[in-house]
Amino acid sequence: MDIIYNEGAKQFHLCNEKISYILGIMPNGEPGQLYFGKRVADKDYSYLINKDFRAMMVGMPEDESFSLEFNRREYPSFGTSDLRLPAYELIYENGSHVSAFTYLSHEISKGKPKLHELPAVYTEDDDEAMTLSLKLKDELTGMELKLLYTILRDYPVIARSVLFENKGSEQVSLERCMSLSLDLPDHDYVWMQFSGAWAREKTPIEKKLDSGITAIGSLRGHSSANQNPFVIFKRPNTDEFQGEAFATALVYSGNFLTQAEVDTYGTLRVMTGIHPDRFSWELAPDESFQTPEALLVWSGDGLNDLSQSLHRLYRKRLCRGAWKEKERPILLNNWEATLMDFTEESVLKIAKKGQEAGVELFVLDDGWFGKRDDDFAGLGDWYVNTDKLPEGITGLAEKIHGMGMKFGLWFEPEMVNPDSDLYRANPDWVLAAPGRERSLGRHQMVLDMTKEEVQEYLYERMHAIISEAKIDYVKWDMNRTISECFSQGRPASEQGKTYHRYILAVYRLYERLIADFPELLFESCASGGSRLDAGMLYYAPQAWGSDDTDAVERLKIQYGTSYGYPISSIGAHVSECPNQQTGRTTSIDTRGNVSFFGTGGYELDLNKLSDGEFEEVKKQIEFLKKHRGLIQSGNFYRLLSPFKDNYCAWMVVSEDKSEAIFAYYRVLAEVNAGRRRVKLMGLDPDAKYTAGEGSFYGSELMNIGLEISAAPGNLEPLTGDFDSRIVVLRKG
Ligand code: DGJ
Repeated sequence: MDIIYNEGAKQFHLCNEKISYILGIMPNGEPGQLYFGKRVADKDYSYLINKDFRAMMVGMPEDESFSLEFNRREYPSFGTSDLRLPAYELIYENGSHVSAFTYLSHEISKGKPKLHELPAVYTEDDDEAMTLSLKLKDELTGMELKLLYTILRDYPVIARSVLFENKGSEQVSLERCMSLSLDLPDHDYVWMQFSGAWAREKTPIEKKLDSGITAIGSLRGHSSANQNPFVIFKRPNTDEFQGEAFATALVYSGNFLTQAEVDTYGTLRVMTGIHPDRFSWELAPDESFQTPEALLVWSGDGLNDLSQSLHRLYRKRLCRGAWKEKERPILLNNWEATLMDFTEESVLKIAKKGQEAGVELFVLDDGWFGKRDDDFAGLGDWYVNTDKLPEGITGLAEKIHGMGMKFGLWFEPEMVNPDSDLYRANPDWVLAAPGRERSLGRHQMVLDMTKEEVQEYLYERMHAIISEAKIDYVKWDMNRTISECFSQGRPASEQGKTYHRYILAVYRLYERLIADFPELLFESCASGGSRLDAGMLYYAPQAWGSDDTDAVERLKIQYGTSYGYPISSIGAHVSECPNQQTGRTTSIDTRGNVSFFGTGGYELDLNKLSDGEFEEVKKQIEFLKKHRGLIQSGNFYRLLSPFKDNYCAWMVVSEDKSEAIFAYYRVLAEVNAGRRRVKLMGLDPDAKYTAGEGSFYGSELMNIGLEISAAPGNLEPLTGDFDSRIVVLRKG
């Protein structure tokens, strides 16, 4: 890994074993993008800067053949000779939107600086990364920009962010500030976004890029289930197993925009950052603004390889704390078993059965506080409901701990029901536009997290409960999008800051609790996967993948989520059948086989299972305890897509290739169908692997494949609808 500065050519070459990212100062003094992709030799690449005369173009006054219109820029503005959508926009006191930032100085340093109050990839040792900090200045106004680029030694990843510093004497309004902008010489890419809605998160959608703008974003105040701040750009011939692709991932959980613009000359401009709509940040002299971090990840070996790089990076250098790489506890959550209708006795009965099955963590979900018997009331009143739990959370937690299990608790700190003591006492604590109706979502409003008193109330309540009851795990839920995003009591000029300040305040509350309780495991949740993004993983290493717990639906949701997020981060549970969301009945085996490829856990009353099913659950828990290390930290391969096939197949392989687990699922039974083989991935070709009673060479499994329509390794053949099998492969 290195950052090579070529002083003569004024070029910077960031490289590691796999990738190169090259930028250089252009004739107008601003940095231009020269190359991003597979590693190339270091040399002077000035010939990649274009000079041309074209009708209708505008160019630099002193050399009209140099136009920004057809040059590739590192951090483009709008309004001089480039009229594509810009990475940033500043409005000066006289109303001008025109900026011209030029190179001032640079610094190349070891390691990676922290981003103030923002989640970001980190290093544990300065030798793991190098950072280029490129300082640009707008001579007319004194504004400065610091473009930060970190290249990581062990990952094909560039991390970027931008610092705006008002070093001038006038007030400036920042209206747009992307975290990353990347101009590429061609647009022969397929854009792949991950879209959905509540209970159907992260469906991959592909679009061939062509002239014009392709964009996704969120203006919901959270990253959302509707779109995700992770987009893949793959060459048309790239698939899971081969070919070139790169992705952008925004390490942020609020409003976002990811956009690709293909211009008249066929070049591509990609950008991602805070959504510029509803964003406006006044910068007085000496004030600054730091954008969230964005990641660029590259692969020359297909989408599985691209995902694996991100998985590894997130597990090792984005997730933090005691749990970042620890095997996740097998949990039992009472939500689908009881909803809010429970007593200490009924909850203990469920927990007891869990303990018998081998569960390690019992989680009490919504309904334990205030007058919370349904979702119309109580939210915000974080005091235990002693009608349900006469001995309080502390009493219940002691009993669960006494059974030898950890105890987890649900909170939804950011919300309040109008029917709550908290709201009655503090109606100005919610986000609400003056004189307008206050929209409700799930009968609740959004607390104005930016207010110090709100932050302190939530911190005090959560801290007290977590410490008194010695809580081991918190499920941090968030069940509605933000509307009427207005911070009561603040001046008009501050309102454009509210969405961003809101998410910073959420991060701050997390950060304070993490500092106080370093052993606590957080699982983030937003009605399932509505805020499952890289930003959240910095605070909570796992996230509830979806409120849809149907095993067949979960195949798609977990498969889609795996493109951008590691298996260890995807909350997945076995729930009851008929399933509460779809009414479908699947076997306890298949439900288990799907939940294994996530954090693993249960969300039902185990007392209601037949003896046979309960015995299966015990076996599943044994299996998970034995294999979760591999599943949660191995290399994950998508093999057959449930979006395209009646089958779904995936596998994980240990880093040293000595062990692997292959899983396949068939949705609907087939009659008289042809034989199906799946080619496995990532094994040692020369090694022999045992699979049940069978024995196969790695090369055989990867080139001939395993016949899943028959019965590999003497497994029972698939029968009926929704059947599945797990094959454990061991070297030797
Ligand atoms: C939505 C979550 O996704 C569910 O798992 C559950 O915690 C409910 N909220 C509780 O209200």
